[in-house]
Amino acid sequence: MAFQRNGAALAARIDAPSLPLDTILLGDCIAELEKLPAASVDLVFADPPYNLQLQGDLRRPDQSLVDAVDDAWDQFESFQAYDAFTRAWLLAVRRVLKPTGTLWVIGSYHNIFRVGASLQDLGYWILNDVVWRKTNPMPNFRGRRFTNAHETMIWASRGADAKGYTFNYEALKAGNEDLQPRSDWLFPICSGAERLKGLDGRKAHPTQKPEALLARVLLSASKPGDVVLDPFFGSGTTGAVAKRLGRHFIGVERDRDYAAAATARIAAVVPESEESIAQAPAKREAARVAFATVVERGLVPPGTRLTDERGRHEAIVRADGTLGFGAVIGSIHRIGAIVQGREACNGWTFWHVAEGRTLKPIDAFRDVIRAEGALAG
Ligand SMILES: C[S@@+](CC[C@H](N)C(=O)[O-])C[C@H]1O[C@@H](n2cnc3c(N)ncnc32)[C@H](O)[C@@H]1O
Repeated sequence: MAFQRNGAALAARIDAPSLPLDTILLGDCIAELEKLPAASVDLVFADPPYNLQLQGDLRRPDQSLVDAVDDAWDQFESFQAYDAFTRAWLLAVRRVLKPTGTLWVIGSYHNIFRVGASLQDLGYWILNDVVWRKTNPMPNFRGRRFTNAHETMIWASRGADAKGYTFNYEALKAGNEDLQPRSDWLFPICSGAERLKGLDGRKAHPTQKPEALLARVLLSASKPGDVVLDPFFGSGTTGAVAKRLGRHFIGVERDRDYAAAATARIAAVVPESEESIAQAPAKREAARVAFATVVERGLVPPGTRLTDERGRHEAIVRADGTLGFGAVIGSIHRIGAIVQGREACNGWTFWHVAEGRTLKPIDAFRDVIRAEGALAG
């Protein structure tokens, strides 16, 4: 049953008009996903029941009761029952994922290993496991174990041969001071003003995830206008972040109160400006620029001596945009491969120009020309 549709003015391409976009479906996720068209969603974020194995009440040193997750939705009779449930929803998700789509599942040591085994058994292909390290984890009150300070997210494609999934590598790297994005993420747990509260002042949902975590997931593995499905919607963190970042969401939640809290939350979200969330083109999609153009434009003039990053190999730039290595003449890629004795080489990142005491990859000059094109366009 469609619970709510928010009127978010998402500047989005709508691939599948029959999808209940920007809607929370009230019901069991397996039954609700069966009603969706196959191969229709770009990204799934799933925060399933953890199946916490609590052994009695948990108390702080002052004997106050810890507000642990002891809700009925998190209880399963046995590991076998949990595995059967996991396989059922993983199968339902796999059917609705586009061939290029990917799945993120978050969990703790209570469930993530079981979920990981099931998804591999069903044909999914694990791309990464990302560790969310909590800056402010709940202490281990009994002092009998390590503080449980992280959760794990498995990121998986539909199968080993799945191609074309979204990974915004260049944008992530640029946002990380040009360092490769890593698989360990540091965020606080959700607290303060971000934490939804009921009229009684108590948490509206026991396991609300931080928006920053969801924003990193969506910015890493989706594009504006994509359809993001969350089969365990809870307080609607996925929907709130999707709306803010110009993605569509479909949420499934079987608890009416949680769905109501999520509806109110999402209605209050103001989307970011289109300009601030527009997709950065991946390098391989960016306009093609020949090295000859870089030379013709005088950015790397004929006669320039190029070297690799460590100065072990060198070649001379020729006026026609080829490189000379002794008597051998060829493209930046071919000469890069020859000097290293390799089959192939990306000459744009291999060859560098000395600028004072530093070395600059010739790719930087290609970017200058692309930026001019973007300004002109
Ligand atoms: C771990 S919580 C998700 C919390 C959410 N990520 C957030 O930030 O608020 C799991 C949610 O899944 C819901 N749930 C459990 N089993 C379900 C099912 N079979 N179908 C739909 N929702 C279910 C629970 O009611 C709970 O709200």
